[in-house]
Amino acid sequence: MVWKKCPWEMVVDKAFRAIQNVGGLLLVTEGQAQKPNVMSIGWFTLGIVWRKPVAVVLVRPSRYSFQLLEENPVFTVNVPQETMHREIELCGSYSGRNTDKFALCGFTPRYGEDPTVPMIDECQVSLLCSVVQKTKVEPSTFIAPIVTEFYPRDDFHFVYFGEIKEAWQKEND
Ligand SMILES: Cc1cc2nc3c(=O)[nH]c(=O)nc-3n(C[C@H](O)[C@H](O)[C@H](O)COP(=O)(O)O)c2cc1C
Repeated sequence: MVWKKCPWEMVVDKAFRAIQNVGGLLLVTEGQAQKPNVMSIGWFTLGIVWRKPVAVVLVRPSRYSFQLLEENPVFTVNVPQETMHREIELCGSYSGRNTDKFALCGFTPRYGEDPTVPMIDECQVSLLCSVVQKTKVEPSTFIAPIVTEFYPRDDFHFVYFGEIKEAWQKEND
């Protein structure tokens, strides 16, 4: 299998199938320390906004990935292979503050056009995105049950809209 660039619309099904079947996707960020970090994400969407193709991720300020996104507003979203349940579990329970999750999972960074944030070579699909808008969700604009259920510690998400600059998938030679 080799990596090939493709239109982003071609990978939508694979991304949502992985969320269903593997439990999530892998968000990669890299900040001033120039060391990539990876965290699991389950909240994700894709579409067109401001006439741009965008990937939307929700990251709580308590995550190390949040700090890295603030340092360098570029991210990649990587679709795990169907067998990567353990990697989703590890990247969703350890923090990059004290663990090198690329090493822990045996992931190889693969850089595309942007030299600052890599994709994950072992995945099946990757999107490279550049943040065009970020919004902190506003507690007063939710219906009450969502605040009670999802924000008991006031760790309100930031929503990052990343313009999709490159879409890649692994294909047969
Ligand atoms: C399946 C799964 C999905 C997750 N989805 C999200 C998410 O969408 N947003 C978020 O902020 N945290 C999410 N998390 C929690 C982070 O992945 C977790 O806190 C991680 O350890 C943060 O890593 P970091 O500190 O290296 O950024 C999820 C965890 C799992 C296991």
